[in-house]
Amino acid sequence: ETVEWDPEQAGKGEYDHFMLKEITEQPTSLAQALEGRIDSANGRIALADFEPGTFADVDSVQFVACGTSYHAALYGSLVLNQAGIRSTALLANEYSVSAPPVDDDTLVIAVSQSGETADTLAALRQATAAGADTLTVTNVVGSTAAREADDALFIRAGPEIGVAATKTFSSQAVMLTLLAQRIAADRLGDPPADLEALLAELEAMPGRIERLLDESTARGIADRYSDSESYFFIGRGLGFPVALEGALKFKEITYEHAEGFASGELKHGPLALVTPETPVFAIFTGQEDEKTLKNAEEAQTRGAPVIAVCPDGHPAVDAADEHLAIPETVPDLAGLLANVQLQLVSYYAADLLDRPIDKPRNLAKSVTVE
Ligand code: AGP
Repeated sequence: ETVEWDPEQAGKGEYDHFMLKEITEQPTSLAQALEGRIDSANGRIALADFEPGTFADVDSVQFVACGTSYHAALYGSLVLNQAGIRSTALLANEYSVSAPPVDDDTLVIAVSQSGETADTLAALRQATAAGADTLTVTNVVGSTAAREADDALFIRAGPEIGVAATKTFSSQAVMLTLLAQRIAADRLGDPPADLEALLAELEAMPGRIERLLDESTARGIADRYSDSESYFFIGRGLGFPVALEGALKFKEITYEHAEGFASGELKHGPLALVTPETPVFAIFTGQEDEKTLKNAEEAQTRGAPVIAVCPDGHPAVDAADEHLAIPETVPDLAGLLANVQLQLVSYYAADLLDRPIDKPRNLAKSVTVE
């Protein structure tokens, strides 16, 4: 019999949803983001997208973004602070009422997958009017944000059809990590001591994600905790934006309540919500992990199951109730590997609930209204 050609199914290939296809594409999309931008032979960030010394006068950086892109911006801002450049990540939809002072050595970086988010465009225009230099990090060449900023850096993730951002978060966070090191090198001169290790791990990252995808136990975790009341995600340092992103992914496609916290914040209130029905995903990056473990154990003693997202052999593996394994890597990148596990947990949890995963209710891929 004749089979109707379904363009949407053709686009999904072997996958049931674009979201799973895009989660699985991450080794390729990250390799594309990194192509020609790392010069590991000379131990430096190439990023030939920008002339040498472009960022030599940058004294402080403000990131403006929304949603998942805000979590990537927060990630980049933390890397930049650790590299010695004063930086902050701001919600674009709050920028008009809370922007810090801008002067001519302030760089404002808009992070936007679509490059069309109205809130982010408004913040970019406000920064331009205030005299800041502006830069857009985006997935769409020719997008409004790319055209209106002084400069643009493209993440080359390819089209992302699922409304829930997955591969573009990873590529944004990796590009912002590279950009942070480049800004610091231009401004401060000496490359950071651990740059060689970071470059090597960046080059290895697509392969590490490939292995993680092959070996992930996320589906079983999603199944075992499928009818919980609420889902907590905790992380510290670079694990904190990943906790926020894990919670956003979970809530936007499962419609279940989920919340991300800095690990140390649990005892300042959220612990009151913790019961055996609130599984806690704890993200370990290799930086001050003992504090995250201590806070996860506080929840565990109140009955909450703890799922440790960490490498095999980490102390959290024995302490926790469950383990989502990530390959060993440097602290700058561990959270991004952990995030792939959390993307899969959300995907499988939503699939068990039979949700319209690629098009969640009430949401749009690009929010072009303020
Ligand atoms: C995240 O999964 C959502 N799709 C949403 O939060 C999105 O990240 C936000 O609307 C920003 O979109 P942009 O990256 O295109 O600016």
